[in-house]
Amino acid sequence: MVGKICGTGSYVPPHVMSNDDLAKIVDTNDAWIRERTGIGRRHIIKGETTSYMAGQAALKAVEDSGIDPAQIELILVATSSSETVFPCAACEVQKTIGAVHAAGYDLNAACTGFVLAFNTAQAYISAGIYKTVMVIGADSMSCMVDWTDRSTCILFGDGAGAAILCAEEGEPAFMAAHSDGVKGEALTGLSRHRGGWKPEGEDKESYIHMDGQAVFKFAVRKVPEIIEEVLSKADAELEDIDHFVLHQANRRIIEAVAKRLKTDISKFPMNLEEYANTSAATVPILLDELNRKGQLRRGEKVMLSGFGAGLTWAACLFEW
Ligand code: UT7
Repeated sequence: MVGKICGTGSYVPPHVMSNDDLAKIVDTNDAWIRERTGIGRRHIIKGETTSYMAGQAALKAVEDSGIDPAQIELILVATSSSETVFPCAACEVQKTIGAVHAAGYDLNAACTGFVLAFNTAQAYISAGIYKTVMVIGADSMSCMVDWTDRSTCILFGDGAGAAILCAEEGEPAFMAAHSDGVKGEALTGLSRHRGGWKPEGEDKESYIHMDGQAVFKFAVRKVPEIIEEVLSKADAELEDIDHFVLHQANRRIIEAVAKRLKTDISKFPMNLEEYANTSAATVPILLDELNRKGQLRRGEKVMLSGFGAGLTWAACLFEW
């Protein structure tokens, strides 16, 4: 059995912060941000929470799928910024959508989280354990960034995306995942809700710390590698893939990955100009956009790939 996507949904908060808005609070400008990242705006929560956004995305996915929420057996929420440590966001989503028979838990692998949750759902389905699984990526990075640090605060936005996987007979999904904890210090995040930690020599509280160039190089090297690894497991070729849905961190990273793979950039959809990096939410928000625009056709091959803090990276190849 394989998990076929039978519904998608997404939610971003209505409040928009443009690059020009950011230039009023840190020493930056629209031209620099667009040129280095491709980002034009980001949506930021104003009172909403991570689990609220996850619930709204889930409601839309339920509507898109036409299934009864009582059929959902498992809810997985990938997040690193839930407003509560417990109850987990998955249980909040369960309450919102009335998935009375579902089990649920959260999974944290930062920006890689959604692809790992998707792989987990595929593994449950192929093992025959569950038939209908809701997979969500949701993050409020605005609660974690240091709004005085221009090198990181310009990169992130808030949002949530959801996909419902329904078991069907068919070609299996092929997947891979890796971590490199030794390089974890390249990107660290601390919850605003947990005080106490301050980097040595720093008086102010700070949250996300990143060696941007180290993360950039890691992504450009490891994403093509893991895509090749999944292709070889599937005995497939790059040309067989119709859509490469990658974590939306930086347009230059995606362009460099396409170049390394010698694949036309038109197969790498992007929406980071509008939403920036929403961490675990980027991949499902983009999937939902493609689905709603009718750009994904039954039988087409989709490659997902996420990368980020940990360091972690993952990929999954499946048929739409
Ligand atoms: O989900 C994974 C999340 N992480 C990532 O995606 C990060 C990957 N890395 C990147 O996207 C890039 O490294 C950045 C966009 C973060 C930075 O771009 P860069 O081309 O690596 O720039 P840089 O750090 O080398 O900085 C170049 C210059 C520096 O000034 P000097 O030293 O050349 O005078 C920075 O101080 O740009 C300056 N700078 C800025 N200028 C205007 C750094 N941030 C800004 C800013 N506005 N926001």
